[in-house]
Amino acid sequence: MEQLKRAIEERGSVLTEGVLKVDQFLNHQIDTSLMINIGKEFVRRFDDCKITRVLTIESSGIAPSFMAANELNVPLVFARKKKSLTMSDNVYTSSIYSFTKQETNEITVSKNFLSPKDHVLIIDDFLANGHAALGLTDIVEQAGATVAGIGIVIEKSFQDGRKTIEEEGYRVESLARIQSLHDSKITFLNDLPINNKIAK
Ligand code: G4P
Repeated sequence: MEQLKRAIEERGSVLTEGVLKVDQFLNHQIDTSLMINIGKEFVRRFDDCKITRVLTIESSGIAPSFMAANELNVPLVFARKKKSLTMSDNVYTSSIYSFTKQETNEITVSKNFLSPKDHVLIIDDFLANGHAALGLTDIVEQAGATVAGIGIVIEKSFQDGRKTIEEEGYRVESLARIQSLHDSKITFLNDLPINNKIAK
């Protein structure tokens, strides 16, 4: 998706350890018009899937998922990393280990918001090792629902996430695929390196 790649090139920056900083438009400040187009692009790519619900994980997955769900006219559900005060014990849970953050989170979704009839589109902002996405597929499977596919805004193709998810038999669509962040340069898959600034 060209608009997204341009945003990454112009407003993203490379941190150490292969981490891309995109807080100018995705992880902190949100570029709403870019999110609208990201939502439309997800809908275009999963056009054939008869989606009934979109599932993501708080917090940065919510903005792009909101736009896709709105475009599809279906509900958006987000998995919580901390159980809310009002949440009953009637929940699905899954444990996800974050390699980037070196911590495990127990994610939770109320059983009221997923049913066996659902065809669920899972969306997340980043795909690194795939643990968050697989935690969400685990929850969909617990509900007896169908995973229609997994939509990712930014895939770090130099990590194992896509491979791990595809080995489990799920379809992945990523709107931007990053081959490398070596030497503070962002290289998209099949593209030549572009000069990029180092994050301050
Ligand atoms: P995985 O789910 O694919 O295995 O990834 P991992 O555990 O490594 O990622 C954990 C968190 O770090 C996730 O955010 C993920 O979006 C984020 N992350 C991973 N790689 C990058 C990166 O290169 N740049 C940025 N900006 N984030 C990255 P989270 O903890 O769920 O945070 P948030 O959604 O509350 O913002």
